[in-house]
Amino acid sequence: MRSDANILVTGGAGFIGANFIRYVLALPGFKGRVINLDKLTYAGNLNNLDGLGSRHVFVKGDICDYRKVLGLLRRYKIACVVNFAAESHVDRSIHGPAEFVRSNINGTFSLLEAARAAWAGRKDVRFHHVSTDEVYGSLGKTGKFKETTPYDPRSPYSASKASSDHLVMAYHHTYGLPVTISNCSNNYGPYHFPEKLIPLVILNALEGKPLPVYGDGMQVRDWLYVVDHCAAIWRVMNKGRTGQTYNVGGNSEMANIDVVKGICAALEKFQPSCCNALLKGKKYAELITYVKDRPGHDRRYAIDFSKIRRELGWKPSVTFKEGLESTVVWYLGNSAWVRDVKTGAYRGWLKKNYSR
Ligand code: NAD
Ligand code: DAU
Repeated sequence: MRSDANILVTGGAGFIGANFIRYVLALPGFKGRVINLDKLTYAGNLNNLDGLGSRHVFVKGDICDYRKVLGLLRRYKIACVVNFAAESHVDRSIHGPAEFVRSNINGTFSLLEAARAAWAGRKDVRFHHVSTDEVYGSLGKTGKFKETTPYDPRSPYSASKASSDHLVMAYHHTYGLPVTISNCSNNYGPYHFPEKLIPLVILNALEGKPLPVYGDGMQVRDWLYVVDHCAAIWRVMNKGRTGQTYNVGGNSEMANIDVVKGICAALEKFQPSCCNALLKGKKYAELITYVKDRPGHDRRYAIDFSKIRRELGWKPSVTFKEGLESTVVWYLGNSAWVRDVKTGAYRGWLKKNYSR
């Protein structure tokens, strides 16, 4: 990609998309603009994009809106699409799968169609699709997901992501669209919406509320610091071979209960429980509460990222302890962001400014 090319990022008001836009705009070698198309669902938060300058252009809209996407690709002469837009929460997909089918499958389809129409056989462009390790299903005690592991999605969320991955590859094989896919493990870091385990536990702990651990807490995830993930995506979209999938992992396999205990330890270090009146004399770890398990809860995920390391020289730059501590520090230092998310104020602002 040329250094002054324009990029279309979808879902850029969400957790990873916002971190990605920040990452890209801070790169000394990149001079282009980032057009950010986001529908602003409950997970989209314009506070995540505070302080970005004029090289960031926000457009409210739905990836299912083919005409809108095509218009943006043409108007801004987009050379690369990076698709983050999706419904992303497994629990929500269990309670209401329809929106996952619509945004994750139909939305990706509409983006692919628009890219095919706008780019008409060009090879100097790239469609990068951001996907998940959950498409590979659940592991036993040993083994890791490789790019060649057969797909075996088990929740409505992972099934919708698997479906979108298949569409992306089909457009490569059938129409020659220059695509890449990255399948990554659980991200964590700044701007993470507190429905997901790590930010939920941090914020509940600070308020002296129960820290919910599903089932026996022995499910294993491979935690990836979000900025490392952004660096991996940048490499894949610029240097990855078209038609290829790259797995991205954090080299940080942890049981959920150990993640929760790690958060409690980090909080004791940076904001000791003895100084928090809301805890009424309890230590953070005493708030841990085992609750009913998630239906169909996958037991273990682990990523073999040797392909991206070998081909593109990427590897994670932080340990889980380092990443977790900087995440806890970020939440402690960003009380206005936290307040707006917790009170829903970020939605009120959206209603006022985007009431169409
Ligand atoms: P998120 O829920 O924080 O953000 C999703 C964003 O997409 C929101 O801003 C939302 O408004 C927007 N969006 C949703 N539907 C849309 C639509 N139809 N049109 C336009 N915008 C829409 O999600 P995230 O955690 O940042 O995840 C981003 C992507 O990365 C997703 O595709 C997800 O499947 C994938 N992923 C996430 C993780 C993770 O740990 N968070 C891991 C692997 C893969
Ligand atoms: O593996 C990648 C996936 O990671 C992404 O594709 C998804 O978009 C992302 O949401 C994430 O999915 P998970 O379901 O793994 O994330 P979540 O934070 O919801 O849960 C992490 C683990 O913690 C999981 O095993 C369920 C458990 N959990 C979660 C919550 C919210 C709890 O024990 N208690 C909780 O309250």
